[in-house]
Amino acid sequence: MKNIVIFGSGSGSNAENIFSYFSLRKGVYVSLFVTNKKNSLFVDRARRLGVPVFFIADKSFSNISDLILLLNKNNTDLIVLAGFLLKVPLVLIDCFKNKIINIHPSLLPKFGGKGMYGINVHNAVVKSNESVSGITIHYVTEKYDDGEILFQKSCSILPNETAYSLSKKIQLLEHKFFPLIIEKTLYQ
Ligand code: GRF
Repeated sequence: MKNIVIFGSGSGSNAENIFSYFSLRKGVYVSLFVTNKKNSLFVDRARRLGVPVFFIADKSFSNISDLILLLNKNNTDLIVLAGFLLKVPLVLIDCFKNKIINIHPSLLPKFGGKGMYGINVHNAVVKSNESVSGITIHYVTEKYDDGEILFQKSCSILPNETAYSLSKKIQLLEHKFFPLIIEKTLYQ
């Protein structure tokens, strides 16, 4: 049995989608949701799905050793960042080398880095008159939106596209491809 843990800070639509995908298949188990946001849809979804939640105490991850103990106890095979807004501490990256992946709602290296999250990304893309955007799934390093790219998928931007309409297109791509790439990464 492969064991995955999902980190998130926001609405948690990817987390729930990943959970649902693997609950219909054998061999992969979502053992834990991890968050820094006590009041979030991410937590509401965890409660509804019956997934345990670990709360990160603060921005400096002062309870990181408890988290690492738990991740090891669960025999975590892969950590999946799905809308997780804090920078992952180096100690966690060192403990889980090539076992942490993130999804970003643009075609990195374009529109990545600090402050580039959520609707900010789509606003910047639309403003810069790009003809395509898309999603990137990549390994996590100590820098924001850096690390080896595992997968990208693009979508076209229509002349009347808004940041909101683009965000909906991107979300469809994320929900379609993220579980597949997680599965592939687990078995490679
Ligand atoms: C997604 O767009 C993802 O690419 C980005 O954060 C968003 C999370 O959305 N990293 P949700 O919380 O899964 O709905």
